[in-house]
Amino acid sequence: MEPGAPPPVRVATAGPQGFGVFALGAFRKGDCVLEFGGELLPEELIQDFTHTIQVDDGLFLGPSGGSDDFVNHSCNPNTYLVSKPPRVWLIASRDILPGEEITFDYATGTGDRDEFDVCYCGAPQCRGRVSRFWDLPPKLQRFYRKAGAVPNFVLQTARMKRA
Ligand SMILES: C[S@@+](CC[C@H](N)C(=O)[O-])C[C@H]1O[C@@H](n2cnc3c(N)ncnc32)[C@H](O)[C@@H]1O
Ligand SMILES: [Zn+2]
Repeated sequence: MEPGAPPPVRVATAGPQGFGVFALGAFRKGDCVLEFGGELLPEELIQDFTHTIQVDDGLFLGPSGGSDDFVNHSCNPNTYLVSKPPRVWLIASRDILPGEEITFDYATGTGDRDEFDVCYCGAPQCRGRVSRFWDLPPKLQRFYRKAGAVPNFVLQTARMKRA
């Protein structure tokens, strides 16, 4: 992605999960697909978490008004989170074709908050609901940790849960 160039994605209807973000061009594995924007907000100032992304303990990026507000969850995602608080990016975890929906696994990005109960991602390996990171099967936790896709605040909360 050229610095300052418009992101090669667009927002469109994704299905029962509402709007989603779709690739306009091809991405190669390792490409930065988008960076989350929005104002840095403490948890207590947020009433609706739908279009926010957690960046640290009790700290979120609010809605940006851009396409990054609309990235859906998938249990078989094509991007992963890279988090250097307060900045958060989505990186392609495999090659992505034009027209594909951009998704990431919300379980890698939430701390202790509840997520939605029914997952509509449609992946053959769909887990049926969006769980927290420490509820994932240990093998999947290891896979995401090895990929560097789990922000530190999630890892710390997971450690506390195990202690
Ligand atoms: C960041 S928004 C994504 C954009 C949202 N689809 C919209 O139309 O505004 C997160 C919300 O999208 C919905 N969502 C995202 N992925 C989903 C999925 N796999 N299954 C069901 N709902 C999903 C949930 O309501 C979730 O709280
Ligand atoms: Zn799913």
